[in-house]
Amino acid sequence: MTPLRFGVLGCADIAWRRMLPAMSADASMRLVAVASRDPARARLFAERFGAEAAVSYESLLARSDIDAVYVPLPVALHRVWVARSLGAGKHVLAEKALTARARQSVELYATAAEMGLVLRENVMFVHHSQHAAVQALVAQGVIGEMRSFSSTFVIPSRPAHDIRYQASLSGGALYDIAVYPIRAAMYHLGDQLCVVGAVLRLDRARGVVLSGSALLRTSTGVPAQLEFGMEHMYRSNYLLSGSDGCLALDLAFTPPADHRPLVRVERRDRVEEMALPPDDQVANAIRAFRTAIAAGDTAGELVDASISQARLIDELRTRAEVVSV
Ligand SMILES: NC(=O)c1ccc[n+]([C@@H]2O[C@H](COP(=O)([O-])OP(=O)(O)OC[C@H]3O[C@@H](n4cnc5c(N)ncnc54)[C@H](OP(=O)(O)O)[C@@H]3O)[C@@H](O)[C@H]2O)c1
Repeated sequence: MTPLRFGVLGCADIAWRRMLPAMSADASMRLVAVASRDPARARLFAERFGAEAAVSYESLLARSDIDAVYVPLPVALHRVWVARSLGAGKHVLAEKALTARARQSVELYATAAEMGLVLRENVMFVHHSQHAAVQALVAQGVIGEMRSFSSTFVIPSRPAHDIRYQASLSGGALYDIAVYPIRAAMYHLGDQLCVVGAVLRLDRARGVVLSGSALLRTSTGVPAQLEFGMEHMYRSNYLLSGSDGCLALDLAFTPPADHRPLVRVERRDRVEEMALPPDDQVANAIRAFRTAIAAGDTAGELVDASISQARLIDELRTRAEVVSV
């Protein structure tokens, strides 16, 4: 496979820590250039990852030796820069949340499809094999009939200047963090979910959601209780409760590549812990993007799920009781 030549718009923390090391390690990708608003930062990234430093986002998009771009910008900037990237004929891997409104995500996916380009939202955890393993256990009847789902993704407070505290950049836990438990609920209950109610704690001074909790349900009344936030001790898990038992997975959303997942299954007469193989969700997510480009896959399951996830976030925001703190 000819290496995919890619560039990066914005020298983000997630690019430095996770995505660029993994992209550089993937022989089917070749980092050509990185762009930053700050030339010194672009040079720092370029030196570490063996690429060129572009003087601006626009100049990177104007290059003919780049096939695809990775967009790790703040959420509010995704819409315009994903649209410009597609306009420049590039495939796009954009960070989550793709946009702050489902309508905008639908438009971007439609543009990508019209142009024969691949657009993917970088929700990486779904690419970890532990979730398919849990799904298989449930399908085998290990917990009986599904009765409820619950999931938590909460992280500690961030430094005061963090993009997540800036309302104008669509910061806040709703876009940055709630996507994980929402997507996990969709993964295990299907995407025909609706929001029953929600509570959001809004930072009065900064105008961003610090944390929240939501109750969703399926059409057959299976509830999903979700918690998300950025003012907590780190927790990342889900629990599936069934007629004959329950199944819990810890470190569900950001496991390191060497982590050995443990699925805990409780039934009336016994408790079992099943070890699953480690997996690298970052490398898998990148490979999935690369494979989609090779296959010309402009639509499909991941696009549908990304749109359903965005619609649930719209619904959650609309229905939530917002408490200023
Ligand atoms: N998929 C995941 O697991 C995961 C994990 C963490 C974060 N994320 C997502 O990745 C994105 C970036 O998060 P991050 O934590 O890496 O943030 P970050 O370090 O603050 O990076 C954001 C980058 O956007 C660029 N930028 C352009 N205009 C900006 C503005 N007005 N204010 C601030 N930055 C601006 C900056 O790059 P230049 O200055 O170099 O242009 C900055 O480095 C977010 O959408 C977040 O939700 C995803």
